[in-house]
Amino acid sequence: MKTMFARKRLRVVWVAALLGAGWALAAPGTAQAAGVTVSIACGSEGATNYELCVKASKQWEQKTGNHVRFITTPFSSSGRLALYEQWMAAHANIDVLMTDVFYPGILKKDLVNLTPYFKGEESKFFPAYLKIDTIDGKLLAVPWFAAVGVMYYRKDLLQKYGLKPPKTWAELTADAKLVQAKERAAGHPNFWGYVWQGKAYEGLTCDAVEWLASYGAGAIVAPDGKVTIDNPRAVAALTMARNWIGTISPRGVLSSEEPQTLQVFYAGNALFLRNWPYVWSVVQKPASPLKGKVGIIPIPKGPGADGRHAGAIGGWSLAVSKYGQHRKAAISLVKYLTSYEVERMRFLDGALMPTRLALYKDPKVLAKEPVMKIFYRAILSASPRPSAQTGAKYNRVSSIFYTDVHQMLLGEMTPQATVRTIAARLNALSDHGKHW
Ligand code: GLC
Repeated sequence: MKTMFARKRLRVVWVAALLGAGWALAAPGTAQAAGVTVSIACGSEGATNYELCVKASKQWEQKTGNHVRFITTPFSSSGRLALYEQWMAAHANIDVLMTDVFYPGILKKDLVNLTPYFKGEESKFFPAYLKIDTIDGKLLAVPWFAAVGVMYYRKDLLQKYGLKPPKTWAELTADAKLVQAKERAAGHPNFWGYVWQGKAYEGLTCDAVEWLASYGAGAIVAPDGKVTIDNPRAVAALTMARNWIGTISPRGVLSSEEPQTLQVFYAGNALFLRNWPYVWSVVQKPASPLKGKVGIIPIPKGPGADGRHAGAIGGWSLAVSKYGQHRKAAISLVKYLTSYEVERMRFLDGALMPTRLALYKDPKVLAKEPVMKIFYRAILSASPRPSAQTGAKYNRVSSIFYTDVHQMLLGEMTPQATVRTIAARLNALSDHGKHW
């Protein structure tokens, strides 16, 4: 505990020193003039996000005469948030932050209200994302790229075995078993039916929220704040996932984030992969061994009349920190990076889904990437994580949820005990759903 605390402090000091070094020459107050250096924590999420962030920021440098400094950040959303919280506590001099859909509720006191600067331009963005980024009437971040959980599958292999893309989890499980057995028998011993994100982190929350929603089991906490996870459909959904481990999914998924699961699929060792839209640009690259062999379907439905397709809503926005020295330039950079042209380039080059609605009807985009329609449909029926109703406590809600679901997947707790434990913890955290 003591060491952890000491390490944390050291890191804050280190970060502050690192940032201070770069800004020593920029006296506060002179910040708004052209030729300032704006720092941005973007990228790392998505295979090409970092390169595309750099590419567009360089264009902005050319247009404005300012400079951009890129700060490297952890890949995982949970790790990134922890780092931002340290920066904010230290009032670190960082101007622009890429924020996940649930960050604004947590960082609200640290972010600049962008409403006065966007002057209605925000009405061109997806309403669902604007809602996520607007807290207490203030636009705290501008939606930058959308994401929704989707299922990738090997078209060539389903064809080889005379199968159609599955619509339900039961079909996916059966197809995965069959193809896995046949491929192994044909001399491919490390072939698996299905890979997904099972490590204890935010990505597992997304996967498990999909299982619950697809079974009609709710979203852990209802919109009115009531804890709803302890229900029989949730038990059935979690049981399904636990039964995949060691049968159609390798135990390795329990320590996998998005990149590791993509690696297995990209290497040709899995039939199905659950992931985000940007993966499309990776598997379709000219050098990809999977080019032309991959299809996309919505997240399968659970059983019965309540079963539905439900990809989790993901995505990232750009926010301006209150503690950066170059607010005006930072806002200008955010405006440029979220412009129509830049969002189009990011979709065409990196399958990073636009947040501007008009791009979903852009003829150039549709002609070049017909998958846009699949992503669009998936996002319209997507399921949010319970971040709106749990606000600043969302991160604790999610970590209780993914920690216990992970234990269950490891076989250390039954699905029944898992939903009870999660419900008890969340009720304790919120005074039985009354105070979030
Ligand atoms: C993707 C999503 C993000 C989510 C994360 C979980 O980056 O866009 O919303 O939190 O995956 O790993």
